[in-house]
Amino acid sequence: MSSSNEPNAANNIDGVILLTNPAETTPQNKSDETSQPAEMLSGVETPPTVEAPPSNQVPRNQTGMIPLIRPLDDDKTEPPPHPVDGEPLPNVWIYDGEAYDLTPFIAKHPGGQFFIGRTKNRDITTIVNIFHPNPAKVKKIIEKYSLGKSARPEHIHPKYNAPPFLFKQDFNGWRDTPRYDFRNKDQLLFKIKDRVYEKDFKQKVAKMDSLFNAVSIMILILYFAVQWLYLDYQQYMPIYLFVVLMSMFRISLAGVGHYLIHRPQVGLNKAIANVFDINYVPLALVVTDGHTLLHHPFTQTEVDIKKNVFTFMLEVPRFYRIPVHTAQKIGHISTGMFARIVELVFMAARTGVSDMYGSWRLALPHFIGSFGIHALLLGELILFAVRGEFLAWFAQFFVTVWISTFMIVASHDFETDLPKLETVPQADHDADAGVEKAPDWAVFQLQNSYDLTMIGNKYIDSFLTAGLGPHRVHHVLPQQKSGFANIISEDIVREESAKFDVEWADSQNFFVDRLPILMKYYLGNPSRMAQRENYGFFKEHFHPRALQITMQYVISGWIGIGSI
Ligand code: HEM
Repeated sequence: MSSSNEPNAANNIDGVILLTNPAETTPQNKSDETSQPAEMLSGVETPPTVEAPPSNQVPRNQTGMIPLIRPLDDDKTEPPPHPVDGEPLPNVWIYDGEAYDLTPFIAKHPGGQFFIGRTKNRDITTIVNIFHPNPAKVKKIIEKYSLGKSARPEHIHPKYNAPPFLFKQDFNGWRDTPRYDFRNKDQLLFKIKDRVYEKDFKQKVAKMDSLFNAVSIMILILYFAVQWLYLDYQQYMPIYLFVVLMSMFRISLAGVGHYLIHRPQVGLNKAIANVFDINYVPLALVVTDGHTLLHHPFTQTEVDIKKNVFTFMLEVPRFYRIPVHTAQKIGHISTGMFARIVELVFMAARTGVSDMYGSWRLALPHFIGSFGIHALLLGELILFAVRGEFLAWFAQFFVTVWISTFMIVASHDFETDLPKLETVPQADHDADAGVEKAPDWAVFQLQNSYDLTMIGNKYIDSFLTAGLGPHRVHHVLPQQKSGFANIISEDIVREESAKFDVEWADSQNFFVDRLPILMKYYLGNPSRMAQRENYGFFKEHFHPRALQITMQYVISGWIGIGSI
C-alpha cells in the first residue's frame, strides 16, 4: 500500500503518468472539460487526466493525454498482489462493476466453454458488449449468477492468467484495464450493429461466410498439392514457385485460423481453429485468449499483449535478431510447441479443467487440434529432410516466419506507443447515472487500426494478409466469422463512422507502407540493454550479458517458453 503522501498507484507508462488517486491531483493538472478523454465505469466520478512530464524517448500524442485508469469503486488502495501464496482466486467474473459467479454457465455458453472459463477473474463488460448482437439479453441471462455485490480488486487476476512476460512489469489487471461504458446506445458500435444485424444483411453475411469457407477449403487442398508436386514432380514446381506458393498458402490458412479463433469455440471448430499455427508463429490455444479476449477488446492499451509479442526480440542485439529469432522458431516447431501444449494441458489439469473448458471431454478437441497441427508441422520438416529437401523447406519456413512476424504488428501502430484517445468523440454525458464522457469504443478501434493490402484485391488480400485486410471492420465487428463478411460490411461501418466524424484512412500496403517502418523499428533499433546502458555497437553485441540474453532467447523457443 502506498503512503498517504504518495499518489496512489502512481504509474508511469511510456512517459505518461497515470494517477489513481484524484485527491493527489492538483487543479493545475486538470485538463479542460472538452479535452478530457475518458470516464470509467458506472457510478465512478471522472478522475482528471494528468499531463505527462516531457519525454524524449516516446512518441507522444498531440496533447500527451491518456485517460486515468482507476479502480471501479472509491477504494484508494493499491490492488493486492494476489494470488497470495498461490491461493486460488474466488469464482468471480465482473460485469458493469458487479460480481458474478458464472461457473455453472461455463458448459452452457453457446459461444463455447473456453470463453467463459478463460475470463474468470476478469472484467467481461467489454467482451460481452462487443461479441454479442444483443448484450442486454446476455446481461439478463447472467443475472441469475449475480453475487449481489460490487467487484473488488481481489476478484481480478493481476496478470489475467496469461504469460506475465507479455505485460509490462508492474501491470495490474484491476488498475490497468480500461473500463468502457456501453450503456449509451448512441455509440458508434450500436449504430453499426443495428444495421449489420438487420435480417437481409444477416443473410448476405451468412452467404459470404459460406463462400469464405469454400475458398478456405480450396486453399487447404492447394497447400498439400504444392508440397506433393514439389517432392514428386519438381519439373512442374520449381523451388522459387514452391517457396512463394507455400508462404502464400500458409499465411492465408493462418488468416482462416484467425477468423476461426473469433468464432464460437464449439464442435469441430475447437480443433480446426488450430490451423492458426500453420504459419509457425503463434499457438492458437494461447492466442484465442490473448488475441480474441485481450487484444480485441482492449486494443493498444496496457492489456493488449499483442503489442508486446515481439518487443522481447528487442532485448536481443540488433545484428543477431534475424538468425536468433529464426533459430528460436525452428525450436518452436521441433520441441517448443509440443512442450508448451503439454504445459497447457497440465495447467488445465492443475487449475481444474472444468473451470476452463467445462470438462475433459469438452477440452479434448482443443488439445487434439493443437497436438495435430504440431505433428503436421514437424512431420513436414522431417519429410523434407528425409527426401533431401531441407533447404527448400527452410526457404519457405524463413519467408513465412518473417512475413508473418511483421504482419502481426503491421496493422496497428505498435511501434508508436500511445493511443490517440484525445481525438475520440465522447459518448453522451449522463450526469444522473454518474457517467460522463466515456470514450467511444468503436471510434477508438477505427482510429487505432489499419487496413492492409498486399496485391490490391480485397477478397484475395483478406487471405494474404492473414485476415488483416479489412482490419478496421474486423476490429469493430470482431464477432464476424470471415474476411468476406468484413468486406461487405465496410460500407455500413464507413457510413456510420462518418456521422461520428471519423476519417476513413487509406489502406496501407504491407510491403510499401509498413514493412520498411517495421524493419527499421524491430531490426534496426539497438537492444534495450544497449539503450539503457548507453553501449556502443561492439558492447551491444559482445557484452557477456548480451550473449546470455541471446542464448536464452534461442533456448526459450526450444523449451517452449517463447512459444506464445
Ligand atoms: C466472456 C464473457 C461472455 C459471456 C458472459 C457470454 C454470455 C453469453 C450468453 C448469456 C449468451 C446467450 C445469449 C442469447 O441467448 O441470446 C451468449 C451467446 C453467445 N456468445 Fe457469449 N458470452 C461471453 C463471451 C463470448 C465470446 C468472447 C464470444 C466470441 C465468439 C461469444 C460468442 C457467443 C455466441 C456466438 C453466442 C450465440 C448467440 C449470439 O450470438 O448471441 N461469447 N453468450
